[in-house]
Amino acid sequence: MKDLNQYTITPAVKDSFKTVPGSRLEQLLQGLITHLHDFTREQNVTHEEWMATLNFLYDCGQISTPERHEFILLSDVLGWSALVDMINTKGGATEGSNLGPFYLDDAPTKALGADLSDDRSGVTVLMHGRVMDTLKNPLPGAQVDTWQADGAGTYPIQEQGQDKYDLRGKFTCDAGARYYYTTVLPKPYTVPYDGPVGQLLRAGNRHAWRAPHMHFIVTAPGMSGITTEVFFKNTDYIDNDAVFGVRGSLIAEIKPAKDLDKLGYTLDKTPDAVIEFDFVLAPGD
Ligand code: BEZ
Ligand code: FE
Repeated sequence: MKDLNQYTITPAVKDSFKTVPGSRLEQLLQGLITHLHDFTREQNVTHEEWMATLNFLYDCGQISTPERHEFILLSDVLGWSALVDMINTKGGATEGSNLGPFYLDDAPTKALGADLSDDRSGVTVLMHGRVMDTLKNPLPGAQVDTWQADGAGTYPIQEQGQDKYDLRGKFTCDAGARYYYTTVLPKPYTVPYDGPVGQLLRAGNRHAWRAPHMHFIVTAPGMSGITTEVFFKNTDYIDNDAVFGVRGSLIAEIKPAKDLDKLGYTLDKTPDAVIEFDFVLAPGD
């Protein structure tokens, strides 16, 4: 029998896993054990701290439902989701950012020029741009799937009595790889903070507000799809988004609506303001 101590326990645990040599699982497990044990020794973690951590994770599980995944929220507020997005952004492509909990994969298909707001109050904006590859070649037929909060900072899916498919839509880019539609400018909103992650935010004197944003999943055949968000210059929380979603390259300007006829779009609603944002996809599948 090996007499384990606080140092030899680490290789013993690592050796106990008989994963396929050289596999990704082996790499991840071995690294996780190394870092977890190193962290525990460095911090001299007490029984109380260890138990509090496990109870915190238990509470995250207890409050989670198919609609509310507290572990993803935990990852978001720790900047882990953002770090994974950063690491996995392909060279030259639009940077990735949070998917968030409100995506629906069966959003309605909308015609270019449609209005997504269903007469919700707020500033009507024309959202438009192009989808290109990393060499700036247009990608006609690219698909732009978008969803967002309303002019009060609420996602329709969160509200009883509202249609969960409102303020979202899938667009197919035209022959010039352009997408365009009108919608209401979203306002900031808070991530859920009535659970364990909220307690963590309060313990760290942090707020729960997200900078206003629109979500996008952009895909095209033969290209690597992106999941990202577009933010707006000079809006609240742009410098301290609760889930670290903002990147400089994802901030667009809200400009007054003028010379709209030069764009040549047919729009269902006349916008008050215009936001232009181009998406760039890298080759892939
Ligand atoms: C959102 O953007 O919708 C979101 C992202 C992270 C946590 C909660 C909401
Ligand atoms: Fe969101």
